[in-house]
Amino acid sequence: MAEWHKRSKAVLSIPLAVLLFTGHAVASDELAAQRLGTGNPLAGKLKSAEARCQECHGIEGISSDEKIPNHAGQHANYLIKQLTDFQTGARKHDTMSIMAEDLSAKDKADIAAYFASLKPMQGEGGHESPQALQLLVYGDASRNIPACVSCHAANLLGKLTPDVIYPRLAGQRRVYLRNQLVNWRLGERSNSPAGVMQQVAKTLDDTEIDALANYISGL
Ligand code: HEC
Ligand code: HEC
Repeated sequence: MAEWHKRSKAVLSIPLAVLLFTGHAVASDELAAQRLGTGNPLAGKLKSAEARCQECHGIEGISSDEKIPNHAGQHANYLIKQLTDFQTGARKHDTMSIMAEDLSAKDKADIAAYFASLKPMQGEGGHESPQALQLLVYGDASRNIPACVSCHAANLLGKLTPDVIYPRLAGQRRVYLRNQLVNWRLGERSNSPAGVMQQVAKTLDDTEIDALANYISGL
């Protein structure tokens, strides 16, 4: 007991800079663990090959087509939510409804952990745009659009909160991003919590959507 007391006093006397550094290291480990969720990535690798997910979403989580999303480094809990939404019909897509149909909760967690564990998707060839940057960093109060980064986090890396999962957008496929924003605007995709993405996309015009998709896919 006395020994322990002495040791904890020693810890307290470590300079603040070191504690901050240690705190940071712990936090980033926690973030990495959060990203993987509770599934088993090795089992997920086999399952995603057997279930043919890799044929479209890529063995490295980089998709084979601009209309198909990348999964590499995406938050596992976000992927699980989408698979569940395809199963219940809360998100509609002919191919994905069939692909998700027979996955158990364990399958979803394992496959999601596998894709989350891969080297995160990274963009190439995006176009910087002041119009897109304005919406990303400031939003547009006159149209009730909050900044994208206020939810999707700095650099659009996504984040988990106790209630809501904000997906990573950075490095996602350009045409896929564009299609999702158009779908939210039309209400064809309506599975975001409390309808936030429908509200965000409702008043975006085509030029803004193209600029956003171009810019974000290059991050
Ligand atoms: C034939 C091609 C194809 C196959 C095979 C396929 N997917 Fe997909 N997947 C798609 C397309 C296309 C979309 C985009 C749907 C849309 O536009 O809404 C998608 C979307 C998704 C999403 C939503 C991602 C996001 O960012 O919102 C998840 C999760 C997903 N697929 C997981 C899987 C899993 C797991 C499997 C295997 C069981 C699988 N997919 C098999 C084509 C495919
Ligand atoms: C108020 C919070 C909030 C704001 C602001 C916000 N988003 Fe989202 N966004 C979400 C949530 C939550 C989801 C996940 C929806 C779900 O669970 O299906 C999402 C999903 C998306 C997706 C789908 C990603 C995928 O892989 O399918 C895109 C694209 C997107 N947001 C783009 C944007 C852009 C661009 C902006 C800024 C113009 C923005 N979002 C602002 C909360 C927000």
